[in-house]
Amino acid sequence: MARGHAGKVAVITGAAKGIGQAFALRLAEDGVDIVVADLDAADETVAQVKAFGRRAIGIRCDVASEGSVKALAGEVEQQFGRCDILINNAGIYPVQAFEEISFADWRRLMAINLDAAFLTASAFIPGMKRRRWGRIVNMASSTFGLVVPGYAHYIASKGGVIGLSRALASEFGKHGITVNAVAPSLTRTPGTLSRAPRAAFASMDDEFAALAARQAVPQPQTPADLVGTISFLTSDDSAFITGQTLYVDGGLVRS
Ligand SMILES: NC(=O)c1ccc[n+]([C@@H]2O[C@H](COP(=O)([O-])OP(=O)(O)OC[C@H]3O[C@@H](n4cnc5c(N)ncnc54)[C@H](O)[C@@H]3O)[C@@H](O)[C@H]2O)c1
Repeated sequence: MARGHAGKVAVITGAAKGIGQAFALRLAEDGVDIVVADLDAADETVAQVKAFGRRAIGIRCDVASEGSVKALAGEVEQQFGRCDILINNAGIYPVQAFEEISFADWRRLMAINLDAAFLTASAFIPGMKRRRWGRIVNMASSTFGLVVPGYAHYIASKGGVIGLSRALASEFGKHGITVNAVAPSLTRTPGTLSRAPRAAFASMDDEFAALAARQAVPQPQTPADLVGTISFLTSDDSAFITGQTLYVDGGLVRS
């Protein structure tokens, strides 16, 4: 177990399923109480967190809405009195050629993938500052460092997330708050498994296999490959690591 987790409270967005759910379960195992903020009901995550003996609640929240994030913060304050760990994980990744992206598509994606990181940080940093301890992890993507068609809006949003993480790190390090980004490669989740494969592939399994072949660790990535990093980055052990982007991608070849 990483040090400093006992008695802490984490707010994890988009943790009703997928990568966020895996984060919730790992942090619960580490001794952290969990708030799941998701558009969807989070009953499954909440039940599994409770099985570790931790407190857990699911709060319906649209992370792209200022009012919804403010309501989330109020509910967290009322029920837990604190948020020590914030993981901005909710995100969408529609594959769309640049010329098919309308301004409304662009704005919606930016609101969920980037504005949300601003809104949640604004809501929870004041309490972290008062307690002189906080850990923020923002989900980026390995696509930021790659040449990937069909993702102009997505890659731009994740670049924004990386920039925001560095900027927040520089302002709040003196208050005991670290801010880092984690960039996975294509990971098997309900979101990726339900999307259509890219044109070059017959199935998502083919797409996963092709990517795995470009990794130093040649197997498809799963949420389990990310949880150790999250445990570390939200612990006392990583107190001197901030403003970084960790590419947790099996050593994907960048070309
Ligand atoms: N899966 C991958 O291949 C991969 C790779 C790199 C980065 N990421 C990033 O990891 C994060 C999680 O991805 P995933 O594959 O687990 O996604 P997913 O689609 O499986 O799950 C996403 C969760 O976010 C929630 N959500 C979506 N919009 C929301 C909103 N506006 N407000 C609140 N909740 C909302 C959904 O209800 C869902 O529970 C995303 O930020 C994604 O960009 C994923």
